[in-house]
Amino acid sequence: MENHKLKILIAAAEVTPIAKVGGLGDVIGALPKALKKLNLDARVIIPFYGAIDKNKYKIELTGKNIKVGDDSIDLWQTTLPDSAVPVYLIEHGLFNGREIYSNALADDASDINKYLFFSNAILAGLKAINFRPDVVHLNDWHTAAAAGLLKTDYQNDQYFKQIKTLYTIHNLANQGPAGQNNYMAEGILNADLVNTVSPAYAEEILTKEYGAGLEKILAKRKKRLYGILNGIDTDFFNPETDQFIKQNYSGKTLEKKIVNKTALQGRLGLPPDKDIALVGLVTRFVWQKGVELITKKFAKLNCQFAFLGTGEKSCEQALLKLAHKYPAKFKVLIKFDERLAHEIYAGSDIFLVPSRFEPCGLTQMIAMRYGSIPVVRATGGLKDTVISWSDSLLINLSASGEGARRVKATGLTFENFNSDEFYKTLETALEIYYHQPKVWRQLQLNGLKQDFSWKKSAKEYLKLYKKLLSKTRRRTPKTN
Ligand code: GLC
Repeated sequence: MENHKLKILIAAAEVTPIAKVGGLGDVIGALPKALKKLNLDARVIIPFYGAIDKNKYKIELTGKNIKVGDDSIDLWQTTLPDSAVPVYLIEHGLFNGREIYSNALADDASDINKYLFFSNAILAGLKAINFRPDVVHLNDWHTAAAAGLLKTDYQNDQYFKQIKTLYTIHNLANQGPAGQNNYMAEGILNADLVNTVSPAYAEEILTKEYGAGLEKILAKRKKRLYGILNGIDTDFFNPETDQFIKQNYSGKTLEKKIVNKTALQGRLGLPPDKDIALVGLVTRFVWQKGVELITKKFAKLNCQFAFLGTGEKSCEQALLKLAHKYPAKFKVLIKFDERLAHEIYAGSDIFLVPSRFEPCGLTQMIAMRYGSIPVVRATGGLKDTVISWSDSLLINLSASGEGARRVKATGLTFENFNSDEFYKTLETALEIYYHQPKVWRQLQLNGLKQDFSWKKSAKEYLKLYKKLLSKTRRRTPKTN
């Protein structure tokens, strides 16, 4: 195995920037590049959605009329922008729609056929292009069925005999549309190894509170369940070189960050004021993200809010109502806008992530990279990535001498999913911001120093891939 270049096929419903809805796309867009730097042959396969821009991404036909059961597909190919990572796209009438998912949660019944077919086509496509990976790395329920198919329909085909599967859970709450089968559960049961996107979430999902009904099934795979923190694209999210923001800055020139704040106020029509704290939030407006904790009481706080995202209508409406009532305090933009997202990271002082649950969460890491202090709920990946102010105080109180004065925190966290707790935590953040500028600066610098690069995560994935190949367990099909 030593001289063998590991071959990995990463299958998913999204890949940034070609087809992105949320964090899943960001992971699939970044992980293979980082794996390539570790000398792996990593490739990506996604559906060829109608929304994908064929010319912009220079997508070319590589295989016609490839059989998938009684049906057939065409296979297209390109590379991830700024890389040599091959991306395969499966063309079929099922994917022609303009939207990636049929609704904000990808759980519309029409998505079942679409992704079940995709899961099958991944394997059929592989053989057609003669790429035989060591590992097929499946992500979320959209691709989960492939793990079972390898043990059933494809079981006797020599081509697939040695292939192992890793199944990554990005979000346990989306299990595939209700029907006879629970694809999430099947992925968990049938994959050779399973992981999720942070160590804390890997433990949480074994409990009833976070298990989304699958805690017992997960318990069966406990020995084969891992937690690997996602990284962020530290080149794309870099305040020193970011092309989207008005003023570049670094840890050494943090005072320049303020230029981005006033620019953002101007752009959003918030009252210009360089001294007021600006609080940002960029997210999908869905149940998971807990934005309903932001109530009209928050208008009492001495700060301005800038929110960006799209999602469920009810969530969007509640926030728009706040903006309507308090136009000088809240700006709410219902859209997907990469540039504005960067402007909010760079222009905000504080960044909110009040999630009910959070498998990993990427925005809190991006915020820290831009010197915006995260105020987050202590759950899942948020707990793993934000060093909490209150823990830091405890460390400091118990330490003596120099250590006692050193602040280690990178943000503030609250424990319970509760609007008052969230409010008080944000209030504490604002107190530090207004009255302890040196401590604030320290928090910012602590955040900027964190290593959230994909290199670290990719090395963890490499370990899992190797673990898979050192196992020669016989596979027997399982259903839930
Ligand atoms: C999902 C999760 C989010 C995670 C992302 C990438 O969107 O909700 O927490 O960061 O997947 O793994």
